[in-house]
Amino acid sequence: MSKSMKVTIIGAGNVGSACAQRLAERNIADIALVDIVEGLPQGKALDILQSGPVIGFGSRIIGTNGYEETAGSDVVVITSGSARKPGMTRDDLLMTNMKIVGEVTEKVVGKSPDCTIIVATNPVDAMVYLARHVSKFPRERVIGLSGILDSARLSTFVAAELNVATAAVDAYVLGEHGKNMVVLPRLTTVNGVPVTELLPAETVSRLVERTVGGGAEIVGLLKTGSAFYAPSAAITQMVESILLDRKSTLCCAVSLDGEYGLKDTVISVPVKLGRSGIEEVVELELTSEERQALADAAKVVQELIGVMQLN
Ligand code: APR
Repeated sequence: MSKSMKVTIIGAGNVGSACAQRLAERNIADIALVDIVEGLPQGKALDILQSGPVIGFGSRIIGTNGYEETAGSDVVVITSGSARKPGMTRDDLLMTNMKIVGEVTEKVVGKSPDCTIIVATNPVDAMVYLARHVSKFPRERVIGLSGILDSARLSTFVAAELNVATAAVDAYVLGEHGKNMVVLPRLTTVNGVPVTELLPAETVSRLVERTVGGGAEIVGLLKTGSAFYAPSAAITQMVESILLDRKSTLCCAVSLDGEYGLKDTVISVPVKLGRSGIEEVVELELTSEERQALADAAKVVQELIGVMQLN
């Protein structure tokens, strides 16, 4: 019998547990859910497991406060860390989450040296850089949740505005996962037609603005936490593309090595995700204005990376 695939999720909070549920329901891997709070990952894992007979999945899922059970994971998703409160930017989480992500990365790679790491903890671009620094993994195996989520938000808004199916919308959002995200209306299409040809410029601007503030809008409404349904859906898509070798092209936060004229930084660009992680960084034809916006986003991330004083 072939060995089951295994996914470890660090952090059994909102994003981590939603991810565990979505993945369990996909029935593609066994799951280890880890948290520092005693009982929390165990309780959530047991609860998800008991939904199996009803939903009809057989994935095994265990909750734990240690790392023994994570050994030999194919993919590790890092969601541990603080979420935003109203009025905070993702960057405000840097120092708190840097400590947590650094620690857990070290523990994770000790047990799963061949895994691919997906980072969800914010500020995600800087956290991807940190996880790579600590793990010493090649860039192909450290990827951040970013553009898929931002693009999904834009797709949702465009579909609602035009009263079309979300599946008809193909959206592109690159850059920083924050206020310097680079929304590309020119490349965002509905059944192949750019939204710039379907909607007035003011409407496009309004939808772009709502996309950039998409996470903050939810933080403002929830008051006690940040988004987790759409983030966990986006993470699940990344995990699936890797485990099932789908080779989907998805916008993710990755270390650039000269693509788009950028180096030593992490931003969201389209990448092909397959069994070995990032199999290709896709270089879109951008206008000089769009390239400049990407370079500006990269610079902002570099500044944040500098604050961490890694060496
Ligand atoms: N090891 C394991 N788990 C940890 C650690 C640690 N060192 N430190 C904190 N945690 C756990 C917390 O106990 C908590 O259960 O991480 C979990 C975080 O869950 P939530 O507070 O619900 O936050 P969540 O909404 O899941 O967001 C987590 O993802 O999208 C990002 O911005 C978001 O950075 C935030 C992260």
